[in-house]
Amino acid sequence: MNAYVGTPTSRVDGRAKVTGAAKYAGEFAADLLLHGFVVAATIPRGRIARLDTSKALKVKGVVDVLTHAHRPPLAEQDEAWKDEVAPEQGSPFRPLYDNSVKFNGQPIALVVAEDWETAKFAATRIRVEYEEEAFATDLESERTKAAKVDQPHKPRGDASAALTRAAVHHEADYVIPSEHHNPMELYATTAVWDGNGKLTVYDKTQGVQNVQKFLCSVFGRKPNEIRVISPYVGGAFGSGLRPQHQVVLATLGALALKRSVRVVLTRHQMYGLGYRPMTIEHVALGANRDGTLEAVMHEAIAVTSRFENFSRNDTGWGEQLYKSPNSRLSHKLVHLDVATPCDMRAPGAASGVCALECAMDELAVALKLDPIELRLRCYSDRDQSEDLPYTSKQLRACYARGAEAFGWSRRAPGPRSMRDGKELVGWGMATGVWEALQMPVAVRIVLTANGHAEVSCAASDIGTGTYTIVAQVAADALGLPIENISVRLADSSLPQAPVEGGSWMAASSAHAVLGAAEEIRQELVRRVKAMPASPLGGVDAPDIILVDGTVTKAGDRSRAVSIADIMRHSKLERIEKEKLNQFEEEKSYARNTHSAVFAEVKVDEQLGVIRVTRVVSAVAAGRILNTKTGRSQVMGSVVWGIGMALHEETLMDHRFGRIMNANIAEYHIPVNADVHDIDVIFVDEPDDRINRLGVKGLGEIGIVGVPAAIANAVYHATGKRIRRFPITLDKLL
Ligand code: MOS
Repeated sequence: MNAYVGTPTSRVDGRAKVTGAAKYAGEFAADLLLHGFVVAATIPRGRIARLDTSKALKVKGVVDVLTHAHRPPLAEQDEAWKDEVAPEQGSPFRPLYDNSVKFNGQPIALVVAEDWETAKFAATRIRVEYEEEAFATDLESERTKAAKVDQPHKPRGDASAALTRAAVHHEADYVIPSEHHNPMELYATTAVWDGNGKLTVYDKTQGVQNVQKFLCSVFGRKPNEIRVISPYVGGAFGSGLRPQHQVVLATLGALALKRSVRVVLTRHQMYGLGYRPMTIEHVALGANRDGTLEAVMHEAIAVTSRFENFSRNDTGWGEQLYKSPNSRLSHKLVHLDVATPCDMRAPGAASGVCALECAMDELAVALKLDPIELRLRCYSDRDQSEDLPYTSKQLRACYARGAEAFGWSRRAPGPRSMRDGKELVGWGMATGVWEALQMPVAVRIVLTANGHAEVSCAASDIGTGTYTIVAQVAADALGLPIENISVRLADSSLPQAPVEGGSWMAASSAHAVLGAAEEIRQELVRRVKAMPASPLGGVDAPDIILVDGTVTKAGDRSRAVSIADIMRHSKLERIEKEKLNQFEEEKSYARNTHSAVFAEVKVDEQLGVIRVTRVVSAVAAGRILNTKTGRSQVMGSVVWGIGMALHEETLMDHRFGRIMNANIAEYHIPVNADVHDIDVIFVDEPDDRINRLGVKGLGEIGIVGVPAAIANAVYHATGKRIRRFPITLDKLL
């Protein structure tokens, strides 16, 4: 049954991707295609007093310039602009809606021309006069204006009193800067006008049906008038969860001009979209001398826009990891004149757990305890917020396996006690935790008489390997070689799927495939039993399985009947089944993935240059559907974690409310030379409670804990505790 599931199967879309056959949103062609170029606001707050497009319109090849004063109608109600992942509170941003400017980099016009260069040039001919208003973009100077948001965590006990009483206590602020998404693929949309008022919209997105519903409500269209397709995505990890403004602008252009329009944002313009919000994470831990905790307090203060309350779970993770009779958590927001933040890989956890795990390291130093030992002494077998057991939690095994692979027992505990030539060596570790969510997904399988199956679903593959795992699960469930499976994804006309995010798509899509395959099996069983002198006549239906292109009795291949024979006999060309898989989640368990991350850094004592020379990440995430794509997934996460620790930071000039490093020359991300040895270990974690296959998902867990493990290693190397990320060399000197 498991010829493919659990194996290192190569990506089924790998060849298409490396040969350029895979097409991305900005690559689809259309007759008489027009190109849009975005004109962005250059002030953070105010009104557009005058927007003079006359010179741009005179440029040869320019077809039109769309502005708030000159555009087709857009929905007026906030509700119409709410997408699947919009913050609960607030008024989503509406591009070209009115003359107000809400953030620097906001789109205020779209120049549409026969070619991109002309549109780009004509954009420089647009003159804008603003009525500027007073603005604020600095979280730290506006910190006192932070307002509390509702979070599900109830306080337990009396954390302040327990903290005062505690024998040892550690309290500090950890500052995580805003970080902007920099996927390889630029945000792009090609809106293809079919001549009859219908649009096919190729968009870079993590959810085609989300974008389709959004466009229909924003433009007052019927579902059959807009189809959204996104077969390949060149990286997203949160940036494509919400429909971004380029898809609104391309659609607006196509509807206004009744022609196909492509809009591709420049790298610079991508900084006018969402980002991981800057947070000041205040953590206070109170402990007994034996390393058990008495109090955990965690308050996050995060940036959001003036118009939406974006917040995620930064502070709740201690409830999952560390036993403490008292805890108090809060999340506060400061409204600033900036774009709304958005999800970025492990939103909330990547920042909050970074602070928590640095604080735990500091506590271990204060207690003179090994950092793993401290974590084991307060290890929680239950999720304390709801007092629930876990469906599975092999975090202890992560610590043990990771420590062994890393060689942790050879660590000299004191800071500045390990050296390699003129470099200081530091070893640090941290814990990671994420959720194991599942969402309703529907899958359609069409089985044809030649023993080929097409499996389709509206889910996206943002590069994480959905095509491959869907093919693996289908091949096993249908008893076919994987070469006989073709997978179609990310077309809004296909069966229902949510946005691909939150690490829920592997478990959700795999079980939807199982559901549809079971319907196929039942149909084949009915058909085979109806054949005259059927070798499976007397066999109970549940004992009949699909294997090697045949239908047979489990354990008795002599009774096998080929799918081709059954279909020929039934005079069928194809069997088509579609099934929606709903998850009935028992409320009596917590569902999480865990990891233990170990990092080695080498720091040049004179120059402060930091190299992350080794990372071992031991991950417990249930059954791993594909050990090859799964390993890549975690390695990518670790690389991003290196970026979070040492490189990534959106720098704003608060005098102008403008991002200063809106390009990948000055917004630093890890490059090849920054990435050394990364070892990924998947810890065995059987879980028959979470779902049939025991799958939990790997999309986000790999980044959580990585920045803290590196920061802790930097402390171990240098004796310097840097609490303001990223840890750049100037902070060490
Ligand atoms: Mo993920 S941040 O849900 O793409």
